[in-house]
Amino acid sequence: MDFFFLPSWVVVVLVVAVLTIIYLHYSWDNRRKFGLPGPTPLPLLGHMVDLMKNGLCDFDLNVTKTYGNTVALSSGMFFNFLGDIMITDPEMLKEVMVKQASVFTDRNTDPDIEISPVDKSVFAVRGEQWKQMRSTLTPTFSSGKLRHMEAMILKCANTLIENLKKKAKAGESFDNKIWGWFTMDVICTTAFGVEVDSLNNPNHPFVKNAEKANNISLADPVVFLMFFAPRLVKKLSPILRHVPGFRGVLGSFQFFGETTKALLDVRKQAQEGHYNDFLQLMLTAHTMSTSDLGDDEKEVAKWKKKALTTDEIAGNGIIFFIAGFGTANDTLGFTTYLLATHPEIQQRLIQEIDDVLQGAEPTYDTVSKLGYLEQVLNESMRLYPVGIRVDRVANQDTTVNGLFIPKGTAVAIPIYAIHMDPEKYPDPEKFDPERFTPEEKAKRNPYWYMPFGVGPRNCIGMRLALLEMKIIIVKVLQNFTLKTCAETQVPLVLSKSNPMKPEKPIILKVEERFV
Ligand code: HEM
Ligand SMILES: *[C@@H]1O[C@H](CO)[C@@H](O)[C@H](O)[C@H]1NC(C)=O
Ligand SMILES: *[C@@H]1O[C@H](CO)[C@@H](O)[C@H](O)[C@H]1NC(C)=O
Ligand SMILES: *[C@@H]1O[C@H](CO)[C@@H](O)[C@H](O)[C@H]1NC(C)=O
Ligand SMILES: *[C@@H]1O[C@H](CO)[C@@H](O)[C@H](O)[C@H]1NC(C)=O
Ligand SMILES: *[C@@H]1O[C@H](CO)[C@@H](O)[C@H](O)[C@H]1NC(C)=O
Repeated sequence: MDFFFLPSWVVVVLVVAVLTIIYLHYSWDNRRKFGLPGPTPLPLLGHMVDLMKNGLCDFDLNVTKTYGNTVALSSGMFFNFLGDIMITDPEMLKEVMVKQASVFTDRNTDPDIEISPVDKSVFAVRGEQWKQMRSTLTPTFSSGKLRHMEAMILKCANTLIENLKKKAKAGESFDNKIWGWFTMDVICTTAFGVEVDSLNNPNHPFVKNAEKANNISLADPVVFLMFFAPRLVKKLSPILRHVPGFRGVLGSFQFFGETTKALLDVRKQAQEGHYNDFLQLMLTAHTMSTSDLGDDEKEVAKWKKKALTTDEIAGNGIIFFIAGFGTANDTLGFTTYLLATHPEIQQRLIQEIDDVLQGAEPTYDTVSKLGYLEQVLNESMRLYPVGIRVDRVANQDTTVNGLFIPKGTAVAIPIYAIHMDPEKYPDPEKFDPERFTPEEKAKRNPYWYMPFGVGPRNCIGMRLALLEMKIIIVKVLQNFTLKTCAETQVPLVLSKSNPMKPEKPIILKVEERFV
């Protein structure tokens, strides 16, 4: 019997398809699974349309505003892409990120689908393997090791200052790309011992490949495929990286993998103390003293250690690049914009720098004495936390503040939405370093501020990032005043498609302080 004009088998297929979608729609709805409020997912697509329309930042902000501090999210056919639940309640954050850190050790990334050698990096590995690697790497970021890197950072800073001087003399404006040249130079020398001067050598293979590794856009066929068929890309990557159009990200990973291995061969023969970069430190990391670590780091450094393999060193070298230079680049862009648009705050900062340093070169020890600089930088990272959000996955069934969380649940922590909550930070859009005076800081719940994440899986490069950013800000303000110009977009608008990036380049000018 035909149903209207359709043959009956088509009707059967259609009915089965519709019933399957309805079934999946209900079984994938995490609101029912967790008994929590949350936005209504679309069949199959979850919240993807909302996410595309509003961008990740506004999506998180809207969800926490509308549904409160413990929310269910459903990503439909994208599994737990957005996380299964999103939490902003400080007690829950404390449980997940610190107290039950041994349950919530892993990120919501799957090393099985990450391209070699990034799959062997501290960012990607899971469970016991991560604990060993993190414990092994922790002493390489100690204050003692960073003091040895101070001179390398200053050298990179001086290159930038020379360039800014030319800009100032010519009265030219510049965009936020210049901070990327600096942070790129810093990572090249501190991680690999390679001096590139990326400003004057834009075609240096390190620069080209780092740009490619950092250029994750859905317009790139590899990135697109990695998103929808990650296992396939991983299997085919040895072939794909030779195919035009696929060379971008894959080729750059291969470049850094091979370069690291070549550099390591040289290092193994080098004399003790000849190199002070992370590549060298990683070779002997498992034997390092942990005496100059902070208390939290000492706890981590007590875990079992093991010597890193060449692949692991290569993977970490790349991850330091990917996690390190773009983040600091963007943060410096935002911070200099805020200083240029708030001249009174900039003047107060210049005054502090002049008073404390008296014209001397900044060092690890002297920049840590600049309290107002720390307030300014922290407030800038409150407004523009380039990490945006982090996540943790439960490796066993557990209960957090009475909520049952089964093994495999991905918990999202929306850093930006927490930082922009008017109940935590009144008038959250306003740039106000006074929020970070010692008194104000003491009044606030510590889980309300986490630009570098929190707990044992936080940002391992935090001290390096703060050091390089403080050094360059101090050097810039010792010599120049940052100014807006006709091309500066005020107020700054964030991009919807590219989360936590300005929609337009941030264009500024500098004026020399002493002419
Ligand atoms: C302004 C600069 C930076 C910001 C805002 C930033 C932010 C973050 C955030 C939010 C996380 C996730 C933390 C969590 O899950 O709790 C992270 C992880 C990480 N960051 Fe950074 N980061 C910065 C600079 C750097 C630098 C310079 C390095 C490199 C040397 C670095 C290396 C890493 C690594 C390796 C991880 C993964 C740690 C692990 O999984 O054990 N970051 N970062
Ligand atoms: C906020 O979320 C609601 C419910 O999911 C949605 O209908 C609305 O379009 C969102 N609005 C904005 C501005 O993000
Ligand atoms: C630094 O950030 C700006 C703005 O997001 C971007 O245009 C530039 O390419 C970045 N620099 C590098 C070296 O990636
Ligand atoms: C970044 O990727 C886009 C899309 O694949 C491409 O058009 C652009 O040239 C790339 N930029 C760099 C610096 O590799
Ligand atoms: C920058 O400022 C420092 C400290 O005031 C000074 O010693 C140095 O000569 C200045 N550099 C330039 C290029 O003006
Ligand atoms: C500034 O932020 C860093 C990193 O999150 C933190 O360790 C420090 O205590 C903060 N300082 C103030 C004054 O809030």
